[in-house]
Amino acid sequence: MTILDIIAKKRDGKSLTKEEIEFFINGYTKGEIADYQVAALIMAIYIKGMTDEEIVNLTLAMANSGEVLDLKELNKVIVDKHSTGGVGDKVSLILLPLVASCGVTVAKMSGRGLGFTGGTADKLESIPGYRTNLEVKEFINNVKNIGISMISQSLNLAPADKKIYELRDAISCVESIPLIASSIMSKKIASGADKIVIDVTVGKGAFMKDEKSAKMLADEMIKIGSLAGKETVCILTNMDEPLGYSVGNLLEVKEAVKALQGHIAEDVKDVVLELGAYMLMFAGITKNVEEAKDILEMNLVNGKGYEKFIELVKAQGGDTSYISDLDNFETSKYIEPIYSEEEGYICEMDAKKIGNLVCSLGAGRIEKEDKIDKTVGIIFEKKVGDFVDKSEVLGYLHVNKSEQLETAKESLNEIIKIRKEKPEVKKTIINIIK
Ligand code: URA
Repeated sequence: MTILDIIAKKRDGKSLTKEEIEFFINGYTKGEIADYQVAALIMAIYIKGMTDEEIVNLTLAMANSGEVLDLKELNKVIVDKHSTGGVGDKVSLILLPLVASCGVTVAKMSGRGLGFTGGTADKLESIPGYRTNLEVKEFINNVKNIGISMISQSLNLAPADKKIYELRDAISCVESIPLIASSIMSKKIASGADKIVIDVTVGKGAFMKDEKSAKMLADEMIKIGSLAGKETVCILTNMDEPLGYSVGNLLEVKEAVKALQGHIAEDVKDVVLELGAYMLMFAGITKNVEEAKDILEMNLVNGKGYEKFIELVKAQGGDTSYISDLDNFETSKYIEPIYSEEEGYICEMDAKKIGNLVCSLGAGRIEKEDKIDKTVGIIFEKKVGDFVDKSEVLGYLHVNKSEQLETAKESLNEIIKIRKEKPEVKKTIINIIK
């Protein structure tokens, strides 16, 4: 068997066997197969697709390419959560301490931002002292002692996915159902999850642009979950406009803290409660969605979710004085209002364009080695469907380079579309696939 035969087989639209898939995953993980050959194979998979059997074999080969965490010693049902990616998506920062405060055991490995989407690990690292690179022992100890730990993909889990994901990003092959499904599920299997809740984002700022393709992705992940013995539910959520009001690492942490103190944007709350309800049900805390949402709302209002977040930050080495007084956080050098150039209703705030703009201000990475600027971003004052007067403030730009101000303002005024007619506002929760 050679990698050349495998590339040619997929190029010609044929199915790969389990042995062929394991050969290329193991060879690539060990560095025995070149990037350019795997790039060719990935492009062939992107164009020709994969059968269900191939996708399952790819997922398992990637999950087994490194360590597979065994969390049985915790004697708990481990319910994990993942998002297919979005802009302004601070859901994990709010949802995970909140469900932990309700008794769900959370052992979460989060990704970093790449391209226009943000990553939870970068956001957590905006908190001075917070360590996302714990050893396995420290990670498990935090889960044992306080019921939650949130780290980056620093452990040797699904290393094949890490390499392939970076390669896909560099060759424009991210938006593929077999590749996304296997990427996400391999990480969940390797990190020891028993049950999985996935936020499948849909729209302009998501990899799946419409409900039909999002449902196909959801069906595929549920199939893989079922074959791997891990019950999975997918919640399709709207990602046409950014979620909540802020985009940018530190700005999103601040929004998340305020949310945990009870001041939560409607769309963020919709996603947190829906995902949280399934996490509570999977953990056996309740059997009923409505009851689960009541429990979650109660812990948002009584501050138990916030207290759990403080415990988490402390346990991971973070300085909690920043959380208890958000004004202690560093800010960007310039904070400038963006004024509306006309009167009318906001009809569109393209999440991908906003994500790209915030990334260009320094909040994201263009190359994987880039350092990110945690203070920059945008805080919006308005959402799609809101009415604005001429010269009313649409939001505030947070930047560190004065030369970026004018072009960023111009871009935002082009991105935010204002019309006379009131638009139909899409629901945040589009569908639930089990
Ligand atoms: N998130 C992942 O972990 N992998 C993908 O391929 C896309 C989103």
